[in-house]
Amino acid sequence: MVFIITTSKKDFSLRKLKKTTTMHDNLIWIRGEIIRQSKATVNVLSPMAQFGLNVFEGIRCYWNEDKSELYAFRLNEHLERLMMSCRLLRLPSPYLPAQIELFMKQAIQANDFQTDTAVRMTIFGDGQGTWNTCEPVSMFVAPMAKPRTRLDKIPALKACISSWERINDNALPPRAKVGANYINGRYAHLQARHDGYDVPIFLGRDGKVAEGAGACLFMLRNGQLVTPPTTSSVLESITRDTIMVLAREAGMMVLERQVDRTELYLADEVFLCGSAAEISPIVSVDGYVLGNGQPGPVTSSLLKGYLEVSSGETLVHPEWRTVVHRRTLID
Ligand SMILES: Cc1ncc(COP(=O)(O)O)c(C=O)c1O
Repeated sequence: MVFIITTSKKDFSLRKLKKTTTMHDNLIWIRGEIIRQSKATVNVLSPMAQFGLNVFEGIRCYWNEDKSELYAFRLNEHLERLMMSCRLLRLPSPYLPAQIELFMKQAIQANDFQTDTAVRMTIFGDGQGTWNTCEPVSMFVAPMAKPRTRLDKIPALKACISSWERINDNALPPRAKVGANYINGRYAHLQARHDGYDVPIFLGRDGKVAEGAGACLFMLRNGQLVTPPTTSSVLESITRDTIMVLAREAGMMVLERQVDRTELYLADEVFLCGSAAEISPIVSVDGYVLGNGQPGPVTSSLLKGYLEVSSGETLVHPEWRTVVHRRTLID
């Protein structure tokens, strides 16, 4: 019997929308090979495809034109966290961090990326199996070009406190960077967008501020930079750590403590942070306008400092930058 699938008007407009999204068929590393991402396949009955059984990292690499080098930012910490996520999920990693670093360099160099790049590296439940299957486990490393935030075009986000609760350590630990965790973020994000906001902010089970859907959170209040502790249902964010170090080095008082939602309404500045988000200013929370409704001076200066350090424009913290590609003389 042949089934004919008809396309409704709604499907058609969706297809048109997708057509306008630029997709690049980059070279990726998967199961020991470098191939086009469009040629990479995963069994539809794999635990990854069915249940989101994977752990992953999103790593930013910053191109330094003066030095003609591409730097992966805080690569060691990302690889350590990837191993930690595997351990928590009881998903045996097929590779050691040093091997994964090599695969990442191979994938980036195969594409000859001489531009800001984001790398997705994912260890996943492969083959055919269910949510409790522990093997086979495979990996891919997929780099893609992604420009850094432009300082002359800093985003200004309107946030809401989500009515969805953040997943917690005794249900689906946010400390592990597991694909399935992001469905919690999806509920909150799509609700926020539906209600006319740009981003949601989650409260945890304890009613205290946790984090954004894919980023951690800081507020500036009474001259202190405050962020919820890593026991407040957040990912142990590498950017969060970077910001705490940079802010303290700049002489700021930085506190890790529980945060109430109404403190966000009264804050001078609030921002999200993460490898993807970098530093994204929030200019209102639930309609409470923060400061003058524009990205604040402390947030903007932290963003500038963050980009300088990650792209090697300043020489401080060389231990945070790993050269993953450079322009050769032949170019
Ligand atoms: C849920 C969540 N929180 C926080 C972050 C920020 O983490 P990092 O700074 O390590 O990228 C991310 C980013 O990927 C995230 O997905």
